[in-house]
Amino acid sequence: MDATANTASAKLTVGDKSWDLPIHDGTIGPQVVDISKLYGQTGLFTYDPGFTSTASCESKITYIDGDEGVLLYRGYPIEQLAENGDFLETCYLLLYGELPTPAQKADFDFSVTRHTMVHDQMNRFFTGFRRDAHPMAIMVACVGALSAFYHDSTDISDPQQRLIASIRMIAKMPTLAAMAYKYSIGQPFIYPKNDLDYTANFLNMCFAVPCEDYKVSPTLSKALDKIFILHADHEQNASTSTVRLAGSSGANPFACIAAGVACLWGPAHGGANEAALKMLTEIGHPERIPEFVNRAKDKNDPFRLMGFGHRVYKNYDPRAKIMQQTCHEVLSELGIKDDPLLDVAIELERVALHDEYFIEKKLYPNIDFYSGITLKAMGFPTDMFTVLFALARTVGWIGQWKEMIEDPSQRIGRPRQLYTGAERRDYVAMAKRK
Ligand code: SDX
Repeated sequence: MDATANTASAKLTVGDKSWDLPIHDGTIGPQVVDISKLYGQTGLFTYDPGFTSTASCESKITYIDGDEGVLLYRGYPIEQLAENGDFLETCYLLLYGELPTPAQKADFDFSVTRHTMVHDQMNRFFTGFRRDAHPMAIMVACVGALSAFYHDSTDISDPQQRLIASIRMIAKMPTLAAMAYKYSIGQPFIYPKNDLDYTANFLNMCFAVPCEDYKVSPTLSKALDKIFILHADHEQNASTSTVRLAGSSGANPFACIAAGVACLWGPAHGGANEAALKMLTEIGHPERIPEFVNRAKDKNDPFRLMGFGHRVYKNYDPRAKIMQQTCHEVLSELGIKDDPLLDVAIELERVALHDEYFIEKKLYPNIDFYSGITLKAMGFPTDMFTVLFALARTVGWIGQWKEMIEDPSQRIGRPRQLYTGAERRDYVAMAKRK
């Protein structure tokens, strides 16, 4: 552990006993109370369902200040990375900790580009799915299935195999995502083209057809590349924690990323972009906003404003601000003067941010609030939105997995519980049960 062992400690007193618990300082952000030896010393567990106050690991990758609305990748503000770099530069930074030199960037781009094809037998996987299968179901299956093809990069103890697996995951996610989209609309798969950059290649695989040339819009490609940067990593969110826990057992990286894809699918997490667009469509017109805002505030109504609220951000999600700007850029590039969904979104945000309930609970738009409008305008169907989130988050999952595997203190994750079930009791023969 590189955290600074603070001389101060926390005192825990239970009854007539007291224990001193070490406090560690990070570079920035909250200190931690080290409870790793608590059970051995006291016979007590801590209790924190949902991990609202629990640091599950030490990490150097991403830092979030939820109160200030700050997001740093390896110390660099997300706004600067989104404005100045491209997605593969962010991938390099998240994986290796530093911005690449021109030579390192060229090597990394070359390496990723030449791993974009998938084993051709994976094409047969798709014929087994219904055409109307949700593309996230296909991604969970196909990402896990990569471990059935790339046996030469599943030994996690070999640094070279870990590197190849990382590159393969980053490189092949766009190909699998495009294949899932093409399959759903009954069009032939389009193979990767090595003369296109990462995001242009993905757009080409999604929207080109064999019958005519397709020109990728540089503006849309740049906008989508920026959206990928915004989604790349976000410290120990639910899907990243899933990948870390899966990886802690020694499972191969493809299986771990498949677990992350599965977790991201939930509407409380990465599925919120799909749910947010469906919500805006259901609202349909600004005059219906009060009805939905009241439902979101009604404790007896399970409805929530999708794309609003966040476990960590109690201020505006910095990614949402950039997403809103990108949304305007894409709509104007496409000549969409007024998008009714954007009108609803902007008015909904205005109403919510002035409403006592949302102010008191510090609920702001998150990254999923505007992304759906942008992706829909680009031509992606709603059920592909979370697939795009998974595509971009793959580098974060892989980077966090790599950091965990390379941590010498790494051990299998095994939380405990507060048991409130039946005490010991003896078996009752069937004949004696009433
Ligand atoms: C992502 O963790 C990450 O970093 C995730 C992510 C990433 O990059 O990996 O940022 C991506 O998942 C963004 C979040 C996308 N999800 C949504 O937009 C779904 C809608 N939002 C919520 O379901 C909710 O805000 C969560 C899940 C995001 C956060 O839930 P928490 O932290 O468990 O908060 P909570 O549910 O305890 O809510 C606190 C209060 C509650 O009221 P009380 O019980 O205290 O009275 O706020 C209310 C909630 O009812 N609330 C909402 C609300 N979100 C929270 N009320 C109405 N609408 C909402 N959207």
